[in-house]
Amino acid sequence: MRMLITAGATREMLDPVRFISNLSTGRMGYMLAEVARKRKHKVVLISAPTSLTAPAEVEFISVISTQQMLSAVKRCFSKADCLIMCAAVADYRPYTVVKEKIRRAKKSLLLRLIQTPDILAQISREKAGKILVGFSLEDKDYIKRSREKLKRKGLDFIVVNRIQKGGSPFGESKVYGAILDKEGDIERFKGIGKEDLAQRILNKVEALWARRSEKEGGDK
Ligand code: C5P
Repeated sequence: MRMLITAGATREMLDPVRFISNLSTGRMGYMLAEVARKRKHKVVLISAPTSLTAPAEVEFISVISTQQMLSAVKRCFSKADCLIMCAAVADYRPYTVVKEKIRRAKKSLLLRLIQTPDILAQISREKAGKILVGFSLEDKDYIKRSREKLKRKGLDFIVVNRIQKGGSPFGESKVYGAILDKEGDIERFKGIGKEDLAQRILNKVEALWARRSEKEGGDK
């Protein structure tokens, strides 16, 4: 398969030296790219900044902001069979980017933010027969909320990472959560490693692709 994978935490600049971002390390997306490559898929990895090295034999595209990631995904999507949006995309960006460094002058500063484009929701309008996988990070009602997200963003699968009490899964070696599909099936995972999770996700993607290809063959 031709797989397009995103990873990392997008950055939204506030002034020339400051940005808004999140704690994602990018490890899950890089692991997916590596495992997919080992399985002989053709992989394009679009990455926001991380401290990781791109896996071998993967086409690597480096981006910084959500807007840049959206442009790169749009450019590559038509040549992909599957998009796995593993990147932790910033939901908001500063309404204006201040041209010069903001000085420490006022006692308080009000920051006005505006929503970034939802890459998955936009791209799913051009989905055709491609497989779309999203990720979701939730605490309360994590299954219900992720189901809604799967529907709203037009996904085939959503990988739910559950926020454990008092913590965040970013940078953790063990993950907890579930993979949901659009038929309503749930596969839960508890305290597994990221490589194991990558294998499970790719098993599902490959199985769906095989079913679709079989059906297409049968329809002809
Ligand atoms: O809505 P939420 O941010 O929880 O959705 C998470 C999923 O949507 C992830 O797969 C993420 O990569 C993707 N996303 C996106 N564009 C955004 C925000 C999130 O594609 N602006």
